[in-house]
Amino acid sequence: MLASSSAKKLVAEHAASLIENGMIVGLGTGSTANYFIEALAERQKQGLKCSTVASSIVSTMKAKSLGLPQLGMDNLNQIDVYVDGADEVTVDNILLKGRGSDLVREKLLARACDEFYVLIDQSKVVDHIGQNYPVPIEVMPFAWQMVLASLKALGGQGELRPNAAGDGLAVSSYGSLVVDMTFGDIEVLVLDKMLNDVPGVVEHGIFTGLATAVFIADETVGVIEQRR
Ligand code: A5P
Repeated sequence: MLASSSAKKLVAEHAASLIENGMIVGLGTGSTANYFIEALAERQKQGLKCSTVASSIVSTMKAKSLGLPQLGMDNLNQIDVYVDGADEVTVDNILLKGRGSDLVREKLLARACDEFYVLIDQSKVVDHIGQNYPVPIEVMPFAWQMVLASLKALGGQGELRPNAAGDGLAVSSYGSLVVDMTFGDIEVLVLDKMLNDVPGVVEHGIFTGLATAVFIADETVGVIEQRR
């Protein structure tokens, strides 16, 4: 199997090669998205002219440090392409995202784009969503106890996500808290709808019907394109 960093770089460079002059490009969040931002900056050095919009503060800073032109999400209603990683992907291109917490900004870009490219390696292909990770759920900070009670009433188990240092709570770029929940054996489209209906939930990590293509790094053939 390819080393994780080589796999991420491979799919990131593949996605960057598809960006065309004049495009508005949504930047995801996380280690794979970082490789894409680097690959895009490299293409800019070679003459590509595009604008970007970031899904998080951390990606904004990364893009800024590499000199990529940036637009504010509040000035946009549509973008050409959004490129991001994922934690789990099924054969139907249903995704689980959110280890980096920025779900609402990520899902807004995924919904606003003409094309959504998802970058993964083979280890992230799963039979069902929730196989390896709990479902991240971004919640309004003042409502977290009520939301957690609602989620537990739906059969979920989980808690607020701690921050990376372990001395506080994870906070999204939008200012939300995050709870990580497992739900046992619920069909993913049913769970998606159930979570959409809970008051106080800002967004959650199940992305259905949004990915245009999943690029999977593969040791033998290079990049596999799984399109829906
Ligand atoms: C960010 O909130 C996430 O959705 C990431 O895209 C996802 O967790 C994948 O992260 P890596 O690219 O770091 O594996």
